[in-house]
Formats: sequence, structure tokens, C-alpha cells
Amino acid sequence: MMNLLEAIDARHAIRAYTDEPVAADTLAALQSDIDACNAESGLHIQMASGLDDAFLGLKTHYGRFKGVHNAIALIGRASGTGDAEGTPVSPAAAALQERVGYYGERLVLRAVQSGLATSWAVLDGAETVPAADAWWTLDDGESVVWVIAFGHGARPGGRRRSKPIEELASVADGTGVDAWPDWFVHGMEAAMAAPTSLSQQPFHFTLNADGSVTAEALDGLFAHVGLGCAKYHFEVGAAPHKVEWRAA
Ligand SMILES: Cc1cc2nc3c(=O)[nH]c(=O)nc-3n(C[C@H](O)[C@H](O)[C@H](O)COP(=O)(O)O)c2cc1C
Repeated sequence: MMNLLEAIDARHAIRAYTDEPVAADTLAALQSDIDACNAESGLHIQMASGLDDAFLGLKTHYGRFKGVHNAIALIGRASGTGDAEGTPVSPAAAALQERVGYYGERLVLRAVQSGLATSWAVLDGAETVPAADAWWTLDDGESVVWVIAFGHGARPGGRRRSKPIEELASVADGTGVDAWPDWFVHGMEAAMAAPTSLSQQPFHFTLNADGSVTAEALDGLFAHVGLGCAKYHFEVGAAPHKVEWRAA
């Protein structure tokens, strides 16, 4: 099994899958990761496998998906998950989106470690699916916030360009990249490989004078989900340094 850094390198958004089933032991391992994420986060993440169409015929916000037989639904209590463009309507909604990104990306990298392909997606109209037709169950006040398709990729993914590190990060004392601590650079390199909606990378990381890190979402589509993904990657890249997050 590849390690997490290798998984960060190997991960690309893959939107077409073969009909080859995911092995039972891989599914069982993923389910126990989901259980751990739910226990830590208070989210209600659920998984379906071996379906004809795990997206239930719903359209995705963008992108063309094919052969999606397996998916993870990131479900949380919606204090309003955002408007149509994904702009959070409240600090609570922003926090939910960031949590979904953080734990969802943790599951993405687990799937990639097992040799699977993945892609994040937004299912338009997931809230309109009758309970009897859905493979997820919603408790009071919950909604399907985002989904992750996974399975055996039908094609390899390609490299994508990233904004330069100087644009995505800075250090409070104003020094240039050459003088940044290795753990911060490695954290940023991992964050730059994280998925963001439309590859917009709407985030900025600042290393504060006391050694803590502040990560902020900027304007962009589903920016807080992408920030959560980037923060998980950052922690993996910065390890064994333990990142101390400081609110903006
Ligand atoms: C929060 C979020 C939502 C996304 N929504 C969609 C989507 O609705 N449709 C789609 O095709 N891709 C979606 N993606 C996948 C991104 O477009 C993709 O990850 C990005 O272009 C970067 O490419 P990479 O993952 O190969 O690095 C989403 C990604 C994130 C993080």
C-alpha cells in the first residue's frame, strides 16, 4: 500500500470508472475509516458500492461522470450549506464545509492508497431524492453536502498546474520562500496538490511569528470545502511537524 505522500502525488480527479468491483476488504477498510471520521467530526458520512449508478441519475454541478458505481456521501447538519455558488451563508456553514473537505479528503487519500481513483462532485438536487430511492439516510436537519465518486479508474489522470507557492502562502516576517522552514514548504507543496473546485485554489496559508499557521478561504466556488482538503494535505506534508492552526 502506498503511503500518504505517495497518495497525494498519485491522486487526480477521475470521472470515468470501469465495471470492476471494488474488493470487499478494501470496502471494509474504507468503512472503518468512515466510522473513525464520523466519530471525530460529528459528520454522518455514508458509502454505497456496486450500484448501477451511485449518482442516481442526478446531474453534477459540472463535469461529465461515467460508470460511477461507488460513492461516499458527505452528510452533515446543514445550518444552510450555502447558496447556489457555494458561498457560505454563515460561519457555521463555512465550518461545516471545511470539515467536510478535511474528512472527505482524508477518505479520498485512503481510497487512493488502496489503488482506487476518486473525484469530488456536487450532486445537484440530492435533497430532492425520495428517501426510498436514496442509498443514504438523513437524520433531522441533515443534508448531503458533497459526494466523492470512487472505483477503478477507466483512464489515468493528468498533471494539473498549480498557482505558485509565493501566491498561496506567506510568512509573517515577510521572508522569501528560500528562508521558509522545510515543514512549511512541504506542507504547502502537499496543499498545492489538493483538489479544489475548478482548480481555483482559493486559499491562503500564513506562517505566523509564533509558529502557528492561519489558513483562510478566499473568493471561489465551494472555497471552504477546498480549504478543508488543502488543510488535510498540509498536515500530511508538514508531518512529523505537528501543525498548530490559528483562526484568522
Ligand atoms: C469541493 C469540490 C467540489 C468539486 N465538484 C466537482 C463537480 O461538481 N464536478 C466535477 O467534475 N469535479 C468537481 N470537483 C473536482 C475538481 O474539479 C478537481 O479536483 C480539480 O479540477 C483539480 O484537479 P485534480 O483533482 O485532478 O487535481 C470538485 C472538487 C472539489 C474539491
